[in-house]
This record gives sequence, structure tokens and C-alpha cells, in this order.
Amino acid sequence: SRSIRLAVIPGDGIGPEVVAQGLKVLDAALPSDVKVETREYDLGARRWHATGDTLPDAELESLKDHDAILLGAIGDPSVPSGVLERGLLLKLRFAFDHYVNLRPSKLLPRTATPLAGRPEIDFVVVREGTEGPYVGNGGSLRTGTPAEVATEVSLNTAYGVERVVRDAYERAQARPRRKLTLVHKNNVLVHAGHLWKNIFDRVGREYPEVTTDYLHVDAATIFFVTQPERFDVIVTDNLFGDILTDLAAAISGGIGLAASGNINPTGAFPSMFEPVHGSAPDIAGTGKADPTATVLSVALLLRHLGYEAEATRIETAVTEDVTGRDGSARTTDEIGDALASRVRAASVTP
Ligand code: IPM
Ligand code: MN
Repeated sequence: SRSIRLAVIPGDGIGPEVVAQGLKVLDAALPSDVKVETREYDLGARRWHATGDTLPDAELESLKDHDAILLGAIGDPSVPSGVLERGLLLKLRFAFDHYVNLRPSKLLPRTATPLAGRPEIDFVVVREGTEGPYVGNGGSLRTGTPAEVATEVSLNTAYGVERVVRDAYERAQARPRRKLTLVHKNNVLVHAGHLWKNIFDRVGREYPEVTTDYLHVDAATIFFVTQPERFDVIVTDNLFGDILTDLAAAISGGIGLAASGNINPTGAFPSMFEPVHGSAPDIAGTGKADPTATVLSVALLLRHLGYEAEATRIETAVTEDVTGRDGSARTTDEIGDALASRVRAASVTP
């Protein structure tokens, strides 16, 4: 019989609440012969306050021994900014070489969008996940004085850019519209920009069926709002991708629906799936958190592990649930239950 060894990092704030619903729907989606072995990791703000640990080496090692990781949310205002981000979340993305940060956006019927005229939105951002300004390269001189100088040096390697660009071409090739847009800022960031554009053009010659486009990141933000239907697959660097995917969430149903996968396509390390939203400490414990982003992240997890039909059933359940929303308030748990029963009903083999 098949099995999935799943590491779970519920984390802070609403993290544990949404992860519980994600696991509920995972269980509903899988056939009974697939066994899920979960191991929970106590990481995040509580742990840091108690022990000073963010992610000890022993736990990093033991996380490797899983097929995938499901993460809720990390961060709390009581922890200095950057401690958990760098010591836990980014440490995982870097240590497990999650070079494809996959963030799909789809505007479902009747979901909220601030855009007029309800455009078609169905695109996926392939955000580079291991380089760029996120590497922590830089420093500050004369810190705290009027003469302070700070640098953040963006790291871009041909190796790192080519592998993510190639992944994006593969994804574009597999989609009906076969369009790939590179987003950068090569009119100002000329060194990294030219590296990205040259590799994008060179790899593109191997994908003659994929239509390509290039946009500066500032122009891309305009088109996200005025013409989001022009996008199919977008490939971009770590920081541009971070910013663009929050905007993508805002135009396509809100941050409560935005899912993501931190993927190592080689399978050398477990990939990690998480909602794009944060720990939302202001609503933690109130039952107001929407678990849908986590549930959709579980769908990405299942697809990554080869459970395509199960992933699609979850996505269909979400579409139906979201389309049927009448504005009445439901708790985190009620939404999870509703999704799990839709998935279960769809999984019953006649
Ligand atoms: C995200 C988050 C993280 C990022 C932070 C919490 C480090 O904003 O997953 O988009 O910047 O990547
Ligand atoms: Mn972000």
C-alpha cells in the first residue's frame, strides 16, 4: 500500500487552525489504501520564546526524511522582525533548495476582486526561491549613525536562473495558452536583468511553441490591474515575485484563497506547501480564518506527489464552495468541514 510521510509545521497565529482543516481535507481526498504518516514540528514564535530555537539542525535533518511539508504560518509581533523569517522559513526554503516558488492565481466565480469588469484571471507565478536579494548578502557600516551605509546585494547565478526559467517554460508548454512572461527591471538592474533576459531568450529557443513576453516589474503591476488576462505563466526573481504574488492574491479573491508551493523539482529534498498569507495574530482563535488557501496548498502538495485526481477534486470542491458562498459568516472549522464533505462525495467511486 502507498503512504505519504508528511511533516507538519502548524506555526503561529491562525497557522494551527488552518492546518487542521488542510489535514482534514487531505484525509477526505485520499483513497483508503494511502496511509498518511504525519509528524508535527513545534516551530515558530512559541518555541523561540521558550527555548530560543528557530530551526535546530537535528530538526532540519529529520524534516528531510519526509515526502512533503505542510506549513501553516510563521510570525508573531512579539518576535523581532526577521528572526523567524530568516531563521525558520527562509532557512527551510534555502536548505531544501526550493527554487520554484509556485503561486497560482485564478479568479473564481463570485469571489471578490477590486477589478472592474471581472476579467479572466488564470495565471501562475513561478517565483525564484533561493537567490536574489533574499540571500542576506550585504551589511551595514557605521550602524545607527547619521553616516550609516547599508547594502543588500542580490545574488543571481546562471545556474539558479536557468533552472527556474526552464521550469517555467515547462509549465507554460503544458498549459493551453503556452505563454511565458519574464518580469524584471533590466532597464535599471542591468547586471541581474541582462543575466535573466539572456537566459530567458536562450532557453526559449528550445520551446518554440511558447510565446514569450518581457515586462519591467513596474509595468507588470499596471497590467495586473488593467489587463490581468494577458498573463499565463510568469517567471521572476525572488523579491519581485514576493510583491507580485500579494498583488495577484488581492485581485483574485483575496489572500484567504492564495496557495503556494516551495518546490524542489528534483526531489532531492521535500517540497513545502503553505498559504501565502501570514499568521494573522489579530484573528487567531476567533474562528474567522479562511482555511481555503491552506486547502488549496494541500492540492498543490498532492499534485506534486503524483495524486493528480485527488488534487483536482480538492480544487473543484473549492470552486464549488466559493461559488456557493452567500455572504453568511462561517467558521474556519465549518469551511473545512464543507470542503471535506464535498471532496469525500466526489471521491466515492460508483
Ligand atoms: C511570503 C512571505 C515571506 C517572503 C516572508 C515571511 C519571509 O512574505 O512567503 O511571501 O517574503 O517570502
Ligand atoms: Mn510575501
